[in-house]
Amino acid sequence: MEIFLDSVDLTEIKKYHMYNIVDGITTNPSLMANSKMDFYETINSICKIIKGDVSVEVASNDFEEMVKEGNRILEVAPNIVVKLPMTWDGLKACKYFRDGGNKVNMTLCFSPNQALLAAKNGATYISPFIGRLEDIGEDGMQLIADIRNIYNNYDFKTKILAASIRTTEHVFEAALCGADVVTIPAKILSQLIEHDLTSKGLEKFNQDWEKSGMKI
Ligand code: E4P
Repeated sequence: MEIFLDSVDLTEIKKYHMYNIVDGITTNPSLMANSKMDFYETINSICKIIKGDVSVEVASNDFEEMVKEGNRILEVAPNIVVKLPMTWDGLKACKYFRDGGNKVNMTLCFSPNQALLAAKNGATYISPFIGRLEDIGEDGMQLIADIRNIYNNYDFKTKILAASIRTTEHVFEAALCGADVVTIPAKILSQLIEHDLTSKGLEKFNQDWEKSGMKI
């Protein structure tokens, strides 16, 4: 399973890139707006650090405007993936960009039928939002499992990108359900390596080694 960082924060991106675990980046208009940084400078800087796929979302809801925005975004770097909303206009734009040989990430997916439509239009990625489904009392992980089954049934190549990850459990559950990619905020990514017994075990090894006076 590939790991993407769900972030526009250059410090976070550089930090986790150093550990060799970041295969790509996802961004969205809220993350961009909250960063208060220049849009083009930010995506340009991200693409200089990360050579894998970097999803950048259009802001418009209208097909013609999505095409204009997507084409402008694509000029920034060869590893940009155009991120489009799961709407009829988004679906049409998906076909447009795929026909042009560009990668597309269909976002705001909340149902298996939406995922089916995205795959039929050749989307590179589909982004089902786990956390936001759980916010309304629905089973986000079941959605991942359902999409996996549908894609396997018809051999669709669209990659399932588990998004809206809120806990470390979401990460391994998405992996168990067969997600191809999981995009994780830095706060959750930082916790993936943690285990109490690892910390305690290391402390004990350190103490015993120091007491022994041995050297390597
Ligand atoms: C990823 O593509 C999404 O933009 C992101 O995971 C949304 O997460 P949120 O529901 O926590 O805002």
